[in-house]
Amino acid sequence: MTNTSSGVPAIEIAGLDKSFGAVKALDGLDLTVPTGEVAGFLGPNGAGKSTTIRVLLGLLRSDAGTARMFGRDVWRDAVELHKHITYVPGDVSLWPNLTGGECIDYLTRLRGAADKKALRVRKAELLERFELDPRKKARTYSKGNRQKVALVAAFLSDAELYILDEPTAGLDPLMESVFTDYVREAKADGRSVLLSSHILSEVEKVCDTVTIIRNGTAVEHGTLDELRHLTRSNVTAVVGKDPAALAGLRAVNDLQVKAHDGGTRVTFDADNAGIADVLDAVTALGVHSITVTPPSLEELFMRHYGDVIEADEAAADDVAGDGAPSGRAARKAARQAAKKAGVR
Ligand SMILES: Nc1ncnc2c1ncn2[C@@H]1O[C@H](COP(=O)(O)OP(=O)(O)OP(=O)(O)O)[C@@H](O)[C@H]1O
Ligand SMILES: [Mg+2]
Repeated sequence: MTNTSSGVPAIEIAGLDKSFGAVKALDGLDLTVPTGEVAGFLGPNGAGKSTTIRVLLGLLRSDAGTARMFGRDVWRDAVELHKHITYVPGDVSLWPNLTGGECIDYLTRLRGAADKKALRVRKAELLERFELDPRKKARTYSKGNRQKVALVAAFLSDAELYILDEPTAGLDPLMESVFTDYVREAKADGRSVLLSSHILSEVEKVCDTVTIIRNGTAVEHGTLDELRHLTRSNVTAVVGKDPAALAGLRAVNDLQVKAHDGGTRVTFDADNAGIADVLDAVTALGVHSITVTPPSLEELFMRHYGDVIEADEAAADDVAGDGAPSGRAARKAARQAAKKAGVR
């Protein structure tokens, strides 16, 4: 597209509103993805990510605000824009009676391509990397394999902008890492990517910036370094020596120590920025076993927006009177306990 080299953003959304009846799915959303950038798009269920993406794809008309890709209006110029974008949803549907390979060819219009040989070579490479057998009928594919078909087609296309809405839903971790390799390659080729995902580690691996959306509004935007201070991993280890030294490390939070068969069990949250020092210290204690769990998106949200969510829930409780469900009360109590314990 002619505008890509002129500094016009790949995506530029300002003050976007979209309601479904009484539900305000988007409420003044702002989101900019500069050309050549991989942008993570995070948010809890129902935050408005897919609605934003459907507006970008020209599938939904917004109520107010502007949404542009490469400087063009997503609704008015949808036909032209679709020549330059590729889209992978989280729940790929295929033509049941076509083989995976035929679906890929159809999605990429492979037969009409100028350099058929180069495309064939790349297609073979993608099929091998994603371990996808293209000869099977699409109706026989598992969910993960349907995702792979759409991903192979996307990475075969020469789209300038990849719009990916939870594209790795159902992929095993090995395949997720193949996916992140190809996203990196797309970036190296100068393409732009909008990646909606619930997998924070995936976003951390490939995204230059992250936008967090809640209730249809962007509540946080920044580079990963700017947001990294929010992330902590949970570490559980059984060690042979006295773990007192861990308490002195700045990156260790909420340390709990318990006697365990033949050793001591330690559990704590570690700042990701200081994880190398923490692991060195744990290793020095003689590790019998260790589990490191990265923070889920939900945990990130709870740490960052716990107060806001608690206020929402308190308001809901007021409306509901005494009959608030015990699950909600339990979650609130757990968050309050976590806050007391120093978890952000
Ligand atoms: N076609 C529709 N009709 C009515 N309400 C809708 C429709 N599509 C979305 N919504 C509502 O809009 C809000 C935003 O939904 P959206 O699918 O954009 O969320 P999301 O961020 O993609 O969530 P998830 O992480 O679960 O995919 C939700 O409250 C949802 O129920
Ligand atoms: Mg969605």
